[in-house]
Amino acid sequence: MQKTQNRPAVGIDFGTTNSSIALATGDSQVQFASFPTSGGNTLSFRSVLYLEQVRKAEGAPRTHSSTGPTAIERYLEAEEKGRLIQSLKSYLPSRTLTGTEVFGRRYMLEDLVSRILSDLRGHAERQFGTPIRHALVGRPVRFVGAETEEDDAYAVARLRDAFTIAGFESVDFEMEPVAAAYSYESTLDHDELILIGDFGGGTSDFSLLQVGPGVRRRGRTPQDLLGNSGVGLAGDAFDARIVRKLVSPALGADSHARSLNKILPAVPAWIYANLERWHYLSFLRTRSVMEILKSARMRALEPEKIEALIALIEDDLGYQLHQAVQRVKCELSRYPSAEFCFRDGSLNLHISVTRSEFEAWIADELRAIERCIDSLLESSGVGSREVDRVFLTGGSSFVPAVRRMFATRFGEDRIRSGGEFTSVAHGLALRAEEVLMNVSCPAGTPLASSTNL
Ligand SMILES: Nc1ncnc2c1ncn2[C@@H]1O[C@H](COP(=O)(O)OP(=O)(O)OP(=O)(O)O)[C@@H](O)[C@H]1O
Ligand SMILES: [Mg+2]
Repeated sequence: MQKTQNRPAVGIDFGTTNSSIALATGDSQVQFASFPTSGGNTLSFRSVLYLEQVRKAEGAPRTHSSTGPTAIERYLEAEEKGRLIQSLKSYLPSRTLTGTEVFGRRYMLEDLVSRILSDLRGHAERQFGTPIRHALVGRPVRFVGAETEEDDAYAVARLRDAFTIAGFESVDFEMEPVAAAYSYESTLDHDELILIGDFGGGTSDFSLLQVGPGVRRRGRTPQDLLGNSGVGLAGDAFDARIVRKLVSPALGADSHARSLNKILPAVPAWIYANLERWHYLSFLRTRSVMEILKSARMRALEPEKIEALIALIEDDLGYQLHQAVQRVKCELSRYPSAEFCFRDGSLNLHISVTRSEFEAWIADELRAIERCIDSLLESSGVGSREVDRVFLTGGSSFVPAVRRMFATRFGEDRIRSGGEFTSVAHGLALRAEEVLMNVSCPAGTPLASSTNL
C-alpha cells in the first residue's frame, strides 16, 4: 500500500463567494463539512474575513479576525464597524494588490486568504476527525483579471502560499469545472461527452470532457479532456450592473446640480463606481468625500437622492446594500419581476425591476460568456450535436438568461443541473480519492494539465 493511501481524500473549493470542503469516505460517498449559522447549518462557508479592534479594559486594543458566517454576524452586531473583506480570490492575479493596511498593520493578500482556509480546515478536521495536511483544490480556468499565463501562474502561486500559511503541507490543483464534472459523473451509469458550465461569483468556467464508469474503468487519459475555457465574469459582475443601473440612479447618479448658469452632474461619477464593489464603500467615508456630497446636496435639483447617498456612506451600509442587490437578483431568477427593497434608518428605497430589464443590463457579460462557450466548442472541434449532456452548476447558473444560452445551443432536454454550491468540492474529493487509490491516472497527472486558457 502506498503511503499516500493513508491520507484522507479531501477536496477544497475556495470560492469567490462561498467555499466548501469535502471528504471522500469510500464507495463514491462524500461527507461535507457543515457550518453553523444563525439560520441553521450550511455546507457552504462564506468566503469573507472580518477584522475588528477589540478593546480590553487594560492594554492596547488588539485586532481580532473572524471568517465565514461568524464574520458576518460579528460585523452586523458591531457598534463600531471593522473591515469586512470579500471576493479575495478575485485579487489573486493582481500584482498591484499585494495586501492592505487595517488598523495600522499591513496584511498580505496571502495572509488574508489563509485565515479563511485555516478556519475551513479547522471546522473540517473537527467534523471529519482527522488532521488535514493535503488536499485537492479547485481553481478557475481563468482567474478574474488574469490576462496572461504569467498572471495565472502568479495567482496559483499566491493561492498555494495561502494554503501553506494555513498549515497545509501540499496541495494539488484541478480546474473547477473538471471537478464539477466528476461530481456529475458519479450519477452516471454510462459514458458521456459532457460540457460543464460552472457559474460562480467571480468566474464562469467551462470544460468539455468524456466521463462515466467506462472511462474510470479503462483509466483516464489526458485526451478525455477536450478543452477548458473561462472568463472572469459572473455573479459579482451581475451585482455591479444592478448597482449601476438600479441603485446608483436612485442615489443621484443621473441627477444634476445648478452651478452658476450651468447644469452639471451633481456628484462625480467615480463616487458611484465605488458603490459597485460594496466593500469599497467604506473608503468613501472621508472628510473630502463628505464635503463634495454636502455641497452637491445644496445645489442638487433632486437633493433627496444625494441625501440618501450621504446616509448610505455615513452609516457604512455597503454590506446591507449588497445583500439587497443579491436578494433582488435571486428573486429575478424565480419571477419575471421583483422589487428592490432597501430600508435602513432614514433610507427607504423601493424600486420595481423586471427580469428583461436585468437581462438588458447584463447583456455585455452574457455575450462575453457566450463567446467563451463557442470558442471552446470551436477550438476543440466538437459540434454542439456531439455533446451528450450539459451540466450547469454554481450559484449564477440559476440566472435564467444563463441557462437559456445552453437551451438555444443544445436544447432543454440535454441540460442537467445541480449541486450548485457543492459540486466542485464533491468532485474534488472523489478525484482526490481516485488519485490516492491510483485506479486510473497515477497521482500528479491531473487532467487539468491540458489547460487551454
Ligand atoms: N438564485 C440565484 N440567482 C442568481 N444568482 C444567484 C442565485 N443564488 C446564488 N447566486 C449567485 O451565485 C454566486 C455565488 O455562486 P458560487 O457559490 O457558485 O460562487 P463561488 O464558487 O464562490 O465563486 P467562483 O466559482 O467564481 O470562485 C453569487 O454571485 C450569488 O449572488
Ligand atoms: Mg465556484
